[in-house]
Amino acid sequence: MPDRRAAPSTPRQADLTRRIAVGGLSFAVDVLGDGPAVLFVHGFPLDRTMWRETMALLTGRQLIAPDLRGLGLSDAPEGGYSISTYADDLVALLDALGVDAAVVCGLSMGGYVAFDLVRRHRDRLRGLILVNTRANADGEDAKRTRDDMIQLVQQRGTSALVEWWLPKLVSMATTPRVVEHLRAMISRSPPAGVVGALMAMKERRDATAGLAEIDVPTLVIAGREDQLISLDCARTMAGQIPGAQFTSIAAAGHLTPLDQPKSTGRVIGEFLEALD
Ligand code: MLT
Repeated sequence: MPDRRAAPSTPRQADLTRRIAVGGLSFAVDVLGDGPAVLFVHGFPLDRTMWRETMALLTGRQLIAPDLRGLGLSDAPEGGYSISTYADDLVALLDALGVDAAVVCGLSMGGYVAFDLVRRHRDRLRGLILVNTRANADGEDAKRTRDDMIQLVQQRGTSALVEWWLPKLVSMATTPRVVEHLRAMISRSPPAGVVGALMAMKERRDATAGLAEIDVPTLVIAGREDQLISLDCARTMAGQIPGAQFTSIAAAGHLTPLDQPKSTGRVIGEFLEALD
């Protein structure tokens, strides 16, 4: 049985998780504070709790961090996963919360979803924060790796993914506490949702051509020790988005907000303040 207990949280955040039903599914959504909305979209195969330390550093805003369908504590249907479906779920959640527009902050797979929001739901965005992500689609090798991962999860469950995937997410700066949090997030994700996310990423469209069309204020954050997305890749992507700011954070791997929550919270906070 996957361990689906709640992740560690600070006292202020202990009861911030709501259940919101949209499109026939129940979603777990952390909602904290009041003010202009910021929507946090987690990476694969993680959940909303990856944003908790960053969220704790931001004040004067309504901070919204859902579990995407199939991950964390949100419902996990057997099929129907795509990057656009995730994006549509997020729009439905914004509707349910009465939010017209938000700054969208997506990490890695969350960034792929953010690109889809820009393309199809531009009116719901006030700004964009792209963290440890890329615009290009999977090549043939990446697609084969997705298939191997799908097979692994189908045969041995999500906990088998921990040994495969976790080493790619961490950096020299990652602490044992973060490793434990990652292990818990990965192992409690339902297999149907993990397989769905792998299929969705494998089939995602290339967002590179759309970068030049992005017309919301954008911040790109990279981890200098990211093993999955090189600094050059992130910098080049930022250079293709009109007016985008680029920041790289030292001693951070693929999960910059977990490795360096304070620096991440600071740069996000500064970006948000400049938008007001
Ligand atoms: C993520 O962190 O969301 C994944 O690394 C994205 C991917 O595998 O492409």
